[in-house]
Amino acid sequence: GAALPFYGAHQAGIVTPAQDRLHFVAFDVITRTREDLVSMLEAWTAAAARMTAGRDAGTHGAVGGVPEAPPDDTGEAIGLPASGLTLTIGFGPGLFRDADGRDRFGIADRRPDALAELPRFPGDALDPAISGGDICVQACAHDPQVAVHAIRNLARIGMGVVSVRWSQLGFGRTSSTSAGQPTPRNLFGFKDGTANLKAEEASALDEHLWVHAGDGPDWMTGGSYLVTRKIRMIIETWDRTSLREQEAIVGRTKGDGAPLTGAAEFDEPDLAAAGPDGLPVIATDAHVRLAHPSAHGGARLLRRGYNYVDGSDGLGRLDAGLFFIAYQRDPRRQFIPVQTALARRDALNEYIRHVSSAIFACPPGLPAADDFWGRSLF
Ligand code: HEM
Repeated sequence: GAALPFYGAHQAGIVTPAQDRLHFVAFDVITRTREDLVSMLEAWTAAAARMTAGRDAGTHGAVGGVPEAPPDDTGEAIGLPASGLTLTIGFGPGLFRDADGRDRFGIADRRPDALAELPRFPGDALDPAISGGDICVQACAHDPQVAVHAIRNLARIGMGVVSVRWSQLGFGRTSSTSAGQPTPRNLFGFKDGTANLKAEEASALDEHLWVHAGDGPDWMTGGSYLVTRKIRMIIETWDRTSLREQEAIVGRTKGDGAPLTGAAEFDEPDLAAAGPDGLPVIATDAHVRLAHPSAHGGARLLRRGYNYVDGSDGLGRLDAGLFFIAYQRDPRRQFIPVQTALARRDALNEYIRHVSSAIFACPPGLPAADDFWGRSLF
């Protein structure tokens, strides 16, 4: 239930040990006025600092204001602790130049080259209504009501300036981002996050996660690029697949999460090992082989995804899957090549479908209370 620090060199919610619950939202900016956008970001920052400390969104609170006005907090988190709430903001390519090519806010020349629309990958079945967005906020907490309360109040504060484009609830983290956490499982029943980048790996975080001075525009130094992919899982088909086949597809055992060439979860996969039949033990189309850093010049990702179930689809199937979230220093060297390899060959593809996609630039953290989200950009 404890509160996590809001201020710091990097934004919270990235290396923060992944909380259990997610409410992710992407907004379209609907104002044409730069001043309105900037004042909303100031108001959001103040509200975010308060809510992550376990307080109301506004200074009067849900019941402390004048009865004649709508309260400056919506009230559903009254009495709930901070619950490890983190709020992480990111800016999408459309904020710099919209779909019609307009530079609405005079910041087109500040767009990092790394923040470009993702290419179309083979097999993509993206729904534009739940893809993209000008600004995102990732709310993570141990209590879903706390995460939803935070997003709801930011949307309320932003009324007239932004409108919600899409949002996604997630339950059950699918990654560990800290060596102290047990590895959770995704909805295919496999441990997910074993080989993830972890908070304790200081030099790897520096190399693979945080943007360096000189990588692009200064305002992103100390920040990170975020890619989200909503990946529907065809779980009914998966559930009719044999255990041996499931393990071959992933390249790890379902029980312990050990590589098929090892005995324990954290044993390194031996991608060169061949079985008695001369075939590789970890198949050429196994997920862990194709995603492995050795296939991508050492590139690694910090994965921070969540399981989702959006009810059922009316055809007798659960509308379920993985809301994939990955942070990285440069998507051009990390997510894009890895996903290109997976989209072409991954044995998992028969059981999954990518239905939404987005990319955002998440600036560095705020050093102190007199700063606000996006100040260095505007
Ligand atoms: C590893 C599942 C999508 C990148 C794994 C592992 C599982 C898994 C079970 C092994 C345990 C681990 O190290 O975490 C899935 C499922 C997906 C999915 C069910 C879709 C529903 C993706 C996507 C990417 C990705 C879209 C990136 C484009 C990785 C990476 C590893 C990994 C980099 C670690 C490989 C290694 O170093 O051994 N995934 N994954 N995964 N996955 Fe995925």
